[in-house]
Amino acid sequence: MLTYSQKVKDHFINPRNVGVLADATVVGEVGSMSAGQALKLYLKLNADEVIDNAGFQVFGSPGAIAASSALTEMLKGKHVDEAARITIKDISEYLGGLPEEKMHTCAMSMEALEVAYARYRGIELEVEGDEEEELNICRCFSVPESKIERAIRDNNLTSVEEITHFTKAGGGCTSCHPDLKQILQRVRAELPENKPKREPVNAGAGNLSNLEKMKAIQDVLDREVRPGLAMDGGDMELVDVVGNKVYVQLHGHCNSCASSSSTMKFFVEDRLREMVDPEITVIDTTEHSDQLHAPPMR
Ligand code: FES
Repeated sequence: MLTYSQKVKDHFINPRNVGVLADATVVGEVGSMSAGQALKLYLKLNADEVIDNAGFQVFGSPGAIAASSALTEMLKGKHVDEAARITIKDISEYLGGLPEEKMHTCAMSMEALEVAYARYRGIELEVEGDEEEELNICRCFSVPESKIERAIRDNNLTSVEEITHFTKAGGGCTSCHPDLKQILQRVRAELPENKPKREPVNAGAGNLSNLEKMKAIQDVLDREVRPGLAMDGGDMELVDVVGNKVYVQLHGHCNSCASSSSTMKFFVEDRLREMVDPEITVIDTTEHSDQLHAPPMR
């Protein structure tokens, strides 16, 4: 399991500034429910362009909730130009450090801030409004090339694994890995110098009994996954757990769309690996009924 700082846990359990700011001056919105992460950042500026208030709505992991909560706290009282200079590293440091695998959750907060700032200043962002023209290199998580290039440059990334940690690209079917390697080589060749490889941060496997693991998985599904699905008229049922294989079944709206069911599988896997056991593999029995080993639990 990943290890989070006390401050991350605090901002996850007691997130600050959650909700819509009805009188927001500007809103920055990034991600999508189908990609497993979405964030709306609301900023209320006064006449001196100082951020008087900030709020957010997020659909995402504990890291995304904590990062969004932290960012809204960091923004208050800052001039909007000063706020725009906040970095992923600043958010991570404010939270006492995030596991490297979860740095992409800060990236989402940063992107929402960038979108909000660009909208406020009337700046046209490279990808904003241009999504149809820019192909997604990673189709599982809808990540375009510009985002990958920027993550490599800004964070001195040196491997496909790190790209996945910072952007989620490559964290699904892996078919985009050859493209990610090519982009990595090209961008790194353009960098003025190759800095030393960053140290991996994390994390040992959990030591749960089968029953404890099953309960923990059900708990994560009930808390983290099913409420989000219910908003879209869907649901997910835990069918069985065999070792590290978790068999689930989608219902309602989720069951009627092949691509969203595949994305959902990776989304759920990500949550369970993060919160229960990093070795977990989720098998969607909606699509693979031949792999079902046991009757439904409930
Ligand atoms: S296309 Fe990138 S992980 Fe599937």
